[in-house]
Amino acid sequence: MSSGNERFNEDALAWDTQPSVQRATALAHPAYLSRLPPPATLSTYDVLEIGSGTGLLSLRISPSVRSLTAVDAAEGMIAMLTAKLPTHTPPNILPVCALLEDPDDPRIGTDPVTNNFVRNRRFDLVISHLVLHHIPSPPALFSTLYGCLKSGGTVMVTDYEDFGPEARRFHPESRMDGVERHGVRRADVRAWLEGAGFVDVRVETAFEMEKKVETEPGSGVIEHDMVFPFLICWGTKP
Ligand SMILES: C[S@@+](CC[C@H](N)C(=O)[O-])C[C@H]1O[C@@H](n2cnc3c(N)ncnc32)[C@H](O)[C@@H]1O
Repeated sequence: MSSGNERFNEDALAWDTQPSVQRATALAHPAYLSRLPPPATLSTYDVLEIGSGTGLLSLRISPSVRSLTAVDAAEGMIAMLTAKLPTHTPPNILPVCALLEDPDDPRIGTDPVTNNFVRNRRFDLVISHLVLHHIPSPPALFSTLYGCLKSGGTVMVTDYEDFGPEARRFHPESRMDGVERHGVRRADVRAWLEGAGFVDVRVETAFEMEKKVETEPGSGVIEHDMVFPFLICWGTKP
């Protein structure tokens, strides 16, 4: 198990108390919806979310779609999401603790609505928010996600942009465990998506978000305001 995974198990209990995490999800939600098909079509979609965490985005997206399979590698995060589900409607979310490497992984085969197992289940949409900067090999991940989609399906991801050396300040120096890169670069995401076989690839600024960062890197004093651009990147499986 990676050190990043241990970090997220430890972080899970207090994850939702972080204002910047809540704000990022609140801004990401409309960024997704405004680029996805209208409600009549979206409501038929089976969605796979990678790195759902405690389900902040999953719970917001679920009323707009048919089903949502929420995958996270950290048991602590999945436990927090599972605890929220009895009071959530509609009951169309299935939490799955997995580090997904195989599109045919049976752990994502159960339909959250019917509870029926479907072998080699495929999805209309894959989403992932604030996860790419933790992924050691994005080309391998995008290749898996490509395999998880139906033909004509969409992958749509959001993360903060690597706009230069200052992007490192997104995380305090003491919390770099599991951080593989300081945001994502436009050209890199495009290359990862196209390399996996996606077409009609788009990379746009989704929103900008204020976040308090360390006044001096390594000081532990988190009182300096910075603005971070977030990218939304998507493509279609032919
Ligand atoms: C920064 S958190 C974001 C969580 C959530 N999307 C949010 O915005 O609150 C990153 C999450 O990705 C998960 N993660 C990292 N790599 C993963 C992988 N390969 N498969 C599934 N989850 C992964 C971590 O366990 C962690 O919960």
